[in-house]
Amino acid sequence: MKNQYDLKGKKILVTGANGQLGQAFVTALLESKAFVYITDIQDEINNDFAKALADKGLADYKYIKLDVTSEKSVEACAAEASDVGVLINNAGIAVFTPFEQRTEEEIDNVMKVNIKGTILCSKIFSRKMIKIKSGKIINTASMYGVVPADKKIYGDSGRNSSDIYAATKAGIIQLTRYLAAYLGEHNITVNAISPGGVFNNQKQVFIDNFLEKTPMKRMTYTDDLVGTVCFLASDDSGYITGQNIVIDGGFTLNQ
Ligand SMILES: NC(=O)c1ccc[n+]([C@@H]2O[C@H](COP(=O)([O-])OP(=O)(O)OC[C@H]3O[C@@H](n4cnc5c(N)ncnc54)[C@H](O)[C@@H]3O)[C@@H](O)[C@H]2O)c1
Repeated sequence: MKNQYDLKGKKILVTGANGQLGQAFVTALLESKAFVYITDIQDEINNDFAKALADKGLADYKYIKLDVTSEKSVEACAAEASDVGVLINNAGIAVFTPFEQRTEEEIDNVMKVNIKGTILCSKIFSRKMIKIKSGKIINTASMYGVVPADKKIYGDSGRNSSDIYAATKAGIIQLTRYLAAYLGEHNITVNAISPGGVFNNQKQVFIDNFLEKTPMKRMTYTDDLVGTVCFLASDDSGYITGQNIVIDGGFTLNQ
């Protein structure tokens, strides 16, 4: 995806942007000429990521440390990035232990980042959008917020797609609808993307099981996602709101 959308003049903030998807989103947004606030709970921008951006001549960004679970941190970030017109709620965590072993701490942590973080950032960054009657919020859900994970895919790999992850991602999809209805009168659109399983050098046995359920017979690549993110950040999607765009090679069709 190269410069399919002209995002010149847009100020876009991405949370959890040091991670796999965040890096891809930021790169595509910069290539589309947006200014990007790269934010993450980590103290600094990921070193390799910064180098990769520099190699591509992409420098129109600012890094801000942001813990989405802390209202104080989000307020401080919003004071520094006061002109954000597009918020991409991308920060998210998962746990991989089985349901039978779920701990209170795991439930609280995943709820905090995935749900509380998305609500806090949306609340605080939409204030300015409401004032100027323009804005876009893009949430990151998952196909596992739409369909349940199939235990057979994970086998005895020691990894599971968890109950609390599924619950929070389904919550993000409904939160997207709620906020779209709530904020629509202010010319703010709110949409979600629901990626499939993104390729990240998983074990071959996992990939084979996964592909058996995937009509397009390949895992999701970050390149499959970035065009939709740029589209949702662009003016071309100005009348689309409350939608969840599933990008999964057809995985959810087979449930
Ligand atoms: N990778 C996939 O297969 C996949 C599939 C569907 C949906 N998703 C969703 O996409 C989003 C990004 O996933 P990813 O694969 O890039 O994950 P990742 O683990 O590579 O990156 C997540 C980033 O979020 C940051 N983070 C964690 N807690 C934070 C906090 N409190 N405040 C701010 N940042 C925090 C981490 O430091 C990390 O850089 C998540 O919401 C995830 O649930 C991922």
